[in-house]
Amino acid sequence: MCTADARSELDFVDRRFGELTVDQLHEIYWLRSLVFVVEQACIYNDVDGRDAEPGTTHHWLPAGERIATYARSLDDGDGVLRIGRVVTHPEHRGAGLAAAVVRHIGDAHTGTIMLDAQSHLVPWYESLGYVVAGAEFLDDGIPHKPMRRN
Ligand SMILES: CC(C)(COP(=O)(O)OP(=O)(O)OC[C@H]1O[C@@H](n2cnc3c(N)ncnc32)[C@H](O)[C@@H]1OP(=O)(O)O)[C@@H](O)C(=O)NCCC(=O)NCCS
Repeated sequence: MCTADARSELDFVDRRFGELTVDQLHEIYWLRSLVFVVEQACIYNDVDGRDAEPGTTHHWLPAGERIATYARSLDDGDGVLRIGRVVTHPEHRGAGLAAAVVRHIGDAHTGTIMLDAQSHLVPWYESLGYVVAGAEFLDDGIPHKPMRRN
């Protein structure tokens, strides 16, 4: 397991959809399904069609053959980047890895970044420089709030 002390030395992988190997794509979908569908007991279509868009990048930290933490960034147009699917494998949580991947994406983008935070995670995203930018809404039954970083 990675430790918070190692955050500054983390080697994130950044890949467009067409650059992913079949094994890497399998690991991404395996982790996202494990957490967002099974752990969160939420029946929804995780493969929403945006993974393969030309402006989408998949970011992750490998842990052996698996993925420790992952997020994707989408091009929402007008210079706005959208972060989503932020997830850490249950065995790697609490080590600062999700914070590191959010910072990693933010460090590479000078414009506005938007994300929809699960509402209980708003304080955590605030600690990473994001502010609430709209009213709470339900997405597949889970309360979310829009947040932005300028
Ligand atoms: C949220 C998540 C990505 C955090 O991953 P992580 O690598 O453990 O995050 P970090 O170590 O960088 O930060 C941990 C912090 O996340 C916050 N956090 C994590 N889960 C939380 C929860 N269920 N409720 C409130 N805060 C939570 C806490 O502030 C925690 O701080 P602590 O370490 O002082 O307790 C991870 O718990 C996860 O995959 N959850 C399920 C998927 C999810 O909800 N993704 C977010 C979509 S908006």
